[in-house]
Formats: sequence, C-alpha cells, structure tokens
Amino acid sequence: MCGIVAALTASGNVVPDVISGLKTLEYRGYDSAGISVMTDSGLQVRRKMGKIANLEAELLSNGLPNSVQAVAHTRWATHGVPADRNAHPHTDDTGEVVLVHNGIIENYAELRTWLRGHGHHFQSETDTEVFVNLIAYHLRKLGDLHAAVRAALEQAHGAYGIVCMAATHPGILVVARMDSPLVVGVSENGTYAASDMPALLHLTRDFVILENGESAVLTASGCQLYDAKGSAIERPTQRCDWTPEQAEKGGYPHFMLKEIEEQPDVLARTAFDRFHDSNGDVDFEPEFGLDDAELRYFSRLRFMAMGTSLHSAILGQQMLAKLARLPGETLNASEFLYSPELEEGDALTVIISQSGETADSLRAMREVQRRGGRVLGICNVMGSTLAREADHLILTHCGPEVGVASTKAFFGQLTALYLLAIRIGRARRVLAPSQGRELLNDLRALRPKLDVLFGKESREAVRVAADYLAGVKSCLFLGRGMNFPIALEGALKLKEISYIHAEGYPAGEMKHGPIALIDENFPVIAIATPGRTYDKMISNMEEVRARKGKVIAVAVNGDSKLAAQADFVLPVPEVPELLSPLVNIIPLQQLSYEVALRLGCDIDQPRNLAKSVTVE
Ligand code: AGP
Repeated sequence: MCGIVAALTASGNVVPDVISGLKTLEYRGYDSAGISVMTDSGLQVRRKMGKIANLEAELLSNGLPNSVQAVAHTRWATHGVPADRNAHPHTDDTGEVVLVHNGIIENYAELRTWLRGHGHHFQSETDTEVFVNLIAYHLRKLGDLHAAVRAALEQAHGAYGIVCMAATHPGILVVARMDSPLVVGVSENGTYAASDMPALLHLTRDFVILENGESAVLTASGCQLYDAKGSAIERPTQRCDWTPEQAEKGGYPHFMLKEIEEQPDVLARTAFDRFHDSNGDVDFEPEFGLDDAELRYFSRLRFMAMGTSLHSAILGQQMLAKLARLPGETLNASEFLYSPELEEGDALTVIISQSGETADSLRAMREVQRRGGRVLGICNVMGSTLAREADHLILTHCGPEVGVASTKAFFGQLTALYLLAIRIGRARRVLAPSQGRELLNDLRALRPKLDVLFGKESREAVRVAADYLAGVKSCLFLGRGMNFPIALEGALKLKEISYIHAEGYPAGEMKHGPIALIDENFPVIAIATPGRTYDKMISNMEEVRARKGKVIAVAVNGDSKLAAQADFVLPVPEVPELLSPLVNIIPLQQLSYEVALRLGCDIDQPRNLAKSVTVE
C-alpha cells in the first residue's frame, strides 16, 4: 500500500504542499520516498530509502527547483527491496516520462522482456519501472500522454493507482486507477491527486473520486474525466467533511493514542444522530437502501472481513443473532474465494472494512456479487471502493484513522453493528419498540461510562501491567462469548505494535492444548466481566495460576472476587453484556500502546505493515 500526492497550479511552488501531503500518507507505507518536479529544462527526480524525513534531508542537501507541477510517493515494497533505486517516482530510460504507482502490475515480467526487445533498459527490479517505459514507448508512437497511458493500461494487467507526467507535456498530469484508490482534488488554486483524501485536506475539501478503469487529465484549472472506454464524462465533486486537524495528531505523541482517546466521541459520531428514542428505531442514511420489507426478506447473514475488521464481524454475527434472531456465519474474506459456490438465495453479506480498499475483502465482495448475492458494506472512508461498489452502505463516520493499528474504527464498527442489529430486529418485529428504546438508551448511557477508562486510576493500572508485559516473549488472550473476539483483537493489537507473540483463544479451548504453554514466564490476559461467562473465566484464571502463570484480568472496577484471582487488574465500568466488547477492548488497546512505548517500537508505523493492504 503506497502513498501518492501530486499537484499542478498556474503559479507558485507546489513542492512544500506535496511533501506536507505525503507525510499524512506515510502510514500507508514507508520503505522509501521520492518526488519529481517539472522544470523548464525537463523533469528532476529525488528519491531516498526510508521515511519521508530522509527525503526531506536529501532535498535540503541536494535542492530541488521550485515548480508548479510535482508528483511524490511513499512506498511499501511489493517488487524489489526497499532501496533508492527501487523508490518512486520512476522514469523511463530516457528520463522524459515520470510515474508514481500504487498497486501491482502482474504481467510486468513479460512486459519487461517485450520492452527490452524494443530497446528499453532498466535500473530497478520494480514493476513500476516497466510500466513507465511502456507509457514512454506508446508516447513516442502516439504523441499524446493521455492516449499513451491508456494504451499502456491496455497491455498491463493488475492493480494500479497512477500519476504520470512527461517533459513533452508540461502543465498536464495524467491519472488512472484500477483497484488502488485515487482521488482528484480541485480548487481555484490548482488541481491535485492523491491516494487518500487526508493528503489534500490542507489544499481542498472538494474531490472527484475515480472509479475502476477511469482516467483523468489534470491541468492547473481543473480535470477532465474519462470512463473505462476512454470517453469523456462528467462527475460532480464530493465535499469531504474531515478537517485538516482531524487528519493531524492534535498534540498527541502518536496517532494511535489520539484515536484510542477519540472513541467516546466516535460513539456520538457513529450513533447518536441515527436513532430515535421515541419509537426505539434506527435510521441509516439513504445509501443504506434497505426498507423493512427488504430487511425481512433476508433469512441468513454472512460476515466477511480481514484483521481487526474480522473481529468486529464475529461480534456482528453474535449481535444480529441475539437481537434480530438472524442466523449467520463469519468468514475470513481471503478464504471465501476457496469456499464451494452455493446458492446466494436470501443471504445478505456484510463486508466490513475501515479503509474500504482491502483487496481480500473487495475480492470477496465482487465474488458474492458475481454469484448473485447482495452486499452491505460497513466502512469508514467515503468514496472508497467498498463504499462505492457495495449494494448497500453504512459509513461509520469515525474520522480518518491514521495509526496502522486499528482502534477507533473497530469501535465504530461495533457501534454500527449494534445499531444494525436493532434496525433489523425492529424490521423483523422480533424487537418491540420498548426493547429498541431500552437498547438505544443503553448505548446512550455508555458515553459517560467510557470516560472512566481515561481516568488516572485506569491509566495507572494499565501502566503497571505494561511494565510487566513488556518483559515477556509470548502470551495468551482468553475470552468467552462476546469477549472471545475481544481476546482475538487484544492479541492482534499487542503483536502488531510491540512484536510480542500473542494469541487470542476462546477460554474453553485453553485446556485442549494451549495450557501446556503456561508457566511463570507465560502470562494470560483474561477478559472476565459479568455475564454468562464470568464463573468459567474465574475457573480459567485459577487453572493458569495453578501452573504459576501470571494473569492480567479485564474486570469490572471493584470486583474483589476476581481481583483475588489476578496479578494485575485492568478495571472497566460495568455495562450490559451486549455492550461489554466496546468497553473491554479499550484497556487492551491502551495496554498494547504502553507496552510498545516501553519497547521503543514505531507505534503508528509498525514494521512490515501498512494501513490498508490493497494486495491479495
Ligand atoms: C488492524 O489493527 C490491522 N492494521 C489490520 O489487521 C486491518 O484491520 C486489516 O488489514 C483490515 O483493514 P480494513 O479494515 O481497512 O479492511
């Protein structure tokens, strides 16, 4: 997953704005970065391995002329190791054409052989360098940059979001997309392109979203869109309501900490203007597109997602079963392709994705649609591929989530799923208005209870547990029922930002094998809040301690019975069992953050990861 930013104005110097925009995308990939500018004497390129700060240092020592036209890129390596020579922007072998690319060209090897046969040569191992030479090949034949890009796209197969410019075409940027996101920003000061809207919020909040197969020609005064067949089309701009501040850290040391602490506000943003206490009903925006009769048509649900979103999918299945009496299944989206093709019939598939660009989840969505099924997307990014291609949509309105480890988006997904369960339960008449009202009141009452999780006592408890956990090599997260997915999510948070090995397990499974791991160096994090699973969780904790294992317990504040069975307690407020996942995940997010801090890990940009995985 890479980050692209490009700008074109009639006057001034766009380099500072492009670099500033690129920094907001660094979470998408940070193996190397580069920038190219159009000058009177042709194109100039600067590229540097490592983070954008390394490129900035390079620009300080080996300056770049001011320019009204620039393209920049921050890379997450797919082909070719992280190195200066593999960094974008790539030029063709004459230096006349420059390209930045996000995605994978699957047939790049045969194209490279074909181009070598036409006299081209290559410096890097990347598919992108092949791509830019293919464009240069067609440019020399056709003389028009947009036509050359489209001709090259006819030959290249794979996923791409690209911005291209050529020394022979000053004042023009050509962009195109297939499966990798690309947005065009427009303003009276200039025209811009980026992989993601936050990169351009300091320049504009008006965007044209490209669909798959589309391209556009950008000039300083605007952009002309072309459809998949190359015909000129018009599309109104969309206004993004995120402010630049929302895309910034707001004074926090890390985006992840800011986003953990935003979660009480996310509850309000995702939920509070979508329900009506009076009749216990939930109303989603028009893009939801399902009325009561249609909701009653579906007799089963299928949930699919990846990573953290898969964990909210498991919880969604439980919420819909309990409140809407709808049977369901949850699948890892990447596995769906290998599942036997059965009748979609009266199933509704729910695809959950923060970014709306996860290739595995998009592939699953398209496969469901190919099989004749209907897809409801639950997503955080307006204009993302999932948001545009799903048959029905619920946006979570969490605001931009920049930290690679997902936190507030998970919280927003759980909130949206809880509302969806009420909506469908009321439509299917298995929830009376009074029950709907009670469930919505429980949600509204959650907001003040969350504040205690950010208070002095809770933070101190997390710090004490993190001091201990930072010294272990491996651990188990255990939960039951609605807190089994929270065990999975807590384990994912810890492993992905602190690199400590952690596994989430249904607590009932521990005695069937994992208990062999328990000793004084192998702790367990147990989620043991009131409900049907409480007593058995206490038994699990006793089993761990009987084998000298340490226990960190997520427990209701003041639960002395449970505290007697734990070495460390992360206190949470008591809430209805159905809402306990939204509460219990927060101390586990805080714990993983504090442990990673102690280990000096790169919290917002963990090694080997990217915010949105747009390759399968
Ligand atoms: C979550 O902390 C991880 N960064 C990752 O598992 C993520 O949830 C997964 O890649 C799915 O992303 P999505 O929600 O944007 O589809």
